[in-house]
Amino acid sequence: MEKSTSYGNVSVAIIMDGNGRWATVRGLPRLAGHRAGAVAVRRIVEAASDLGIGALTLYAFSSDNWKRPSVEVGGLMQLFRTYLIDEMPGCIRHGIRLEVIGRRDRLDPALIATIEEVERQTRGGRNLRLRIAVDYSARESILRAASQTIADRPISPDEFSDLLGNGGNVDLLIRTGGEQRLSDFLLWESAYAELVFTRRMWPDFTREDLASALGEFTGRERRFGGLRCQEVVPAGGV
Ligand code: IPE
Ligand code: IPE
Ligand code: MG
Repeated sequence: MEKSTSYGNVSVAIIMDGNGRWATVRGLPRLAGHRAGAVAVRRIVEAASDLGIGALTLYAFSSDNWKRPSVEVGGLMQLFRTYLIDEMPGCIRHGIRLEVIGRRDRLDPALIATIEEVERQTRGGRNLRLRIAVDYSARESILRAASQTIADRPISPDEFSDLLGNGGNVDLLIRTGGEQRLSDFLLWESAYAELVFTRRMWPDFTREDLASALGEFTGRERRFGGLRCQEVVPAGGV
């Protein structure tokens, strides 16, 4: 794929959904779907880096996903740790700064140690800011940040974004798997995000699908509550 820097200021977030259904229609256990999902993560991170995207945030495990059977949860956590260990050298090589957002206190100590190691080793990365959301809940993140604010001092949206620590505004939010909902992902940060929903299951999501979502994003007019460029009235007339 051709190198480009045109998406350097674009922050993309993806709700990677559909692993379980991908496996079920193939007569495979759900964990096989998650393994295929991890392969897709590698592919899409590489594509994002090649496309020159500035920031990519991936929803890997929601705080509500603890409700799933322990075999599935355990398998996902193991997969996640393996992913971090395997990908660290590549991230360092390609200037990818990897960070994990979400709660840490409920994660296994070995996983926490791996996360801290990867974050430390990739801190110098300047090409792609990759954030992986694990045990993440947007509402909980907002409540935590709100409880840190000083009640008698007004706070700006930017300051609040910093307190949230999730990377700030999302420009393009993609959800695979056919559902059209946010499932408690980056609610504050996606206030003006362009939404792209695709029926493609996450393990089948390709670099071309990512490029096509970006193409759709580029073709949309973002108004942020203002007017279309053509509608701006010359001074003196409304
Ligand atoms: C997304 O795929 C991955 C996680 C939520 C961990 P799912 O596991 O939700 O797959 P479906 O929605 O059941 O197909
Ligand atoms: C959202 O998918 C969470 C992740 C992709 C990690 P879910 O499959 O958990 O969401 P719902 O249950 O369909 O809303
Ligand atoms: Mg799902």
